[in-house]
Amino acid sequence: MSGFLDLRGPAFLADPHAVLRGLREADWWAETDLGTAVLRYDEVQAVLSSWSLRTPGVDFLVAQGVTEGPLVEVMRGFLVNSDGVAHQRLRRAVGRAFSVRRVEEFRSSVGFLADELIDGVGGEFDFVADFARPFAVRALCRFIGVPEDAEREVSGWAASVGLLFGFSVVENASRIEAALGCLYEFIDDLVDQRRRSPGGDLLSSLVDQSLTEDELRSLVVTLLSAGQGTVQHQLGGAVAAFLEFPEQWEVLGGDSSLAGQAAEEVVRFQPATLLGVPRVAKEDIVVNGMLLEAGSWVLPVTGSANRDAAVFVGADRLDVGVARVAHVTYGGGVHYCLGAGLARVELQEVLPRIARAWPGLRGNGVVEWLPANEAVYGPVLLPVVQ
Ligand code: HEM
Repeated sequence: MSGFLDLRGPAFLADPHAVLRGLREADWWAETDLGTAVLRYDEVQAVLSSWSLRTPGVDFLVAQGVTEGPLVEVMRGFLVNSDGVAHQRLRRAVGRAFSVRRVEEFRSSVGFLADELIDGVGGEFDFVADFARPFAVRALCRFIGVPEDAEREVSGWAASVGLLFGFSVVENASRIEAALGCLYEFIDDLVDQRRRSPGGDLLSSLVDQSLTEDELRSLVVTLLSAGQGTVQHQLGGAVAAFLEFPEQWEVLGGDSSLAGQAAEEVVRFQPATLLGVPRVAKEDIVVNGMLLEAGSWVLPVTGSANRDAAVFVGADRLDVGVARVAHVTYGGGVHYCLGAGLARVELQEVLPRIARAWPGLRGNGVVEWLPANEAVYGPVLLPVVQ
């Protein structure tokens, strides 16, 4: 029988995977304050690929009492919040710039960046502050084409804009608006420069696509805010998982050919986007015999589907040595993560390198996590000793 998933409750915040497991074993869905949470793999796949559902877009702000103003306009412009023909057009334009070839060409820079950071740490350190955050920021900025001396400032603004996808938009409104103003000014200047002298980065290619100035601004802001915290927290979640399963760290350190499988397994086991992106029914739809009325909210809880024991053998164990069915952390359907290829390359290059560099890595104090009900999940403090 289905239960209630209390996303703000102490049990979920303390151990989200345990709560999800209990509910998932009881039924494929659970009620929440927001709408119906879908917990098992097949049903989550069905929701993600359905044309009858859209992402909430500005409804997410409306639900928090923000109904008009600059934040609503900005939210409307984001790729993940657009729908139908408008989404297809934007996605095609950015897809041409964000090509598989460009990502593969970036692979060696990712490895170089990881080596540089590995050389700079040793003994006792915080994996988040000393590796995951600077790596995620630098990798993304270099891929997009943000000059090195602006990386820190730009990443700070992008992190503030990311608060738009959290549950405290009203409290953070002035901070978000200020950050957006700074980002727009910065992007406009950079776009001008790339128009005059293009380089090999993503922005140089984006300025050649048929996009309006507003669309271009909005895409760059989207990429900066979608590709930083996710990778940072995914790396942190990965290392936290390896600390729980140290024999897997040893296996990976001894066999770099497992890089591809490891990059998928950590994302399945401890995803940076635990809850997935909600959907809203555009019309009445039926999922596994249940009617979901037009306008109702559905939460495809990808972090739960990834541990569905009917699909993944030993689902609650991290195992880099087995080839598994595809996880659903990067979503599905038309909104499938645009940066999944880049995230994969980053994880494939980083994980074997750090497992080789720090073979005896151990935890060194209490790990602090973001609240599990935020859009992104992972450690904010991860003390380790090498
Ligand atoms: C481990 C890292 C990452 C995770 C876990 C992740 C996760 C996600 C998820 C869950 C979605 C929504 C998919 C859906 O609901 O169907 C998404 C969409 C998106 N992601 Fe990622 N992401 C990651 C890295 C990145 C990176 C590095 C970038 C870009 C540099 C990026 C850019 C985007 C964009 C632009 C969208 C919206 C796509 C659309 O609506 O068409 N992501 N991501």
